[in-house]
Amino acid sequence: MAKGILLLHGPNLNLLGARQPEIYGQKRLSDIDAAVKRHVSAYAIDLRAAQSNHEGALVDSLHAARDWADGVVFNPGAYTHTSLALRDAISAIERPVIEVHLSNVHGREAFRHKSLLAGVCLGQIAGFGWHGYILAVDALLRRWAMLSGPSEE
Ligand code: DQA
Repeated sequence: MAKGILLLHGPNLNLLGARQPEIYGQKRLSDIDAAVKRHVSAYAIDLRAAQSNHEGALVDSLHAARDWADGVVFNPGAYTHTSLALRDAISAIERPVIEVHLSNVHGREAFRHKSLLAGVCLGQIAGFGWHGYILAVDALLRRWAMLSGPSEE
């Protein structure tokens, strides 16, 4: 049985490539989604990507993921720093969610240092550009023992 992964992108990430490329990189969102899809093509993974600029629509996508997804890779954009509704949705769905940021939010303005979501996520990946999505997917694959890594010793 294929495992489902929701690749979810929050506000302003539809502008990737054009938006502050010195911070967020040159790749467009569609290129990132395609690269992540290519990356998982060797595995039995049903990967579906979605983006919204609206907090409620992101909550809806997380709820809908209960019906088909086993894990979520989520860049919540600025809602990371503000959204109790997204925090509650992540807690509610009882799926592993990995928070991803293209930039190293901890090295930027103080208001980006705090994530309301990280505490209810499996983990956070920040500062590796679009490659962070690959790292996050690999973390889920390892969790599901579909990808092996270095032994514990
Ligand atoms: C971001 C970091 C957020 O602080 C910012 O609001 C974004 C993008 C990132 O990927 O680095 O929109 O999530």
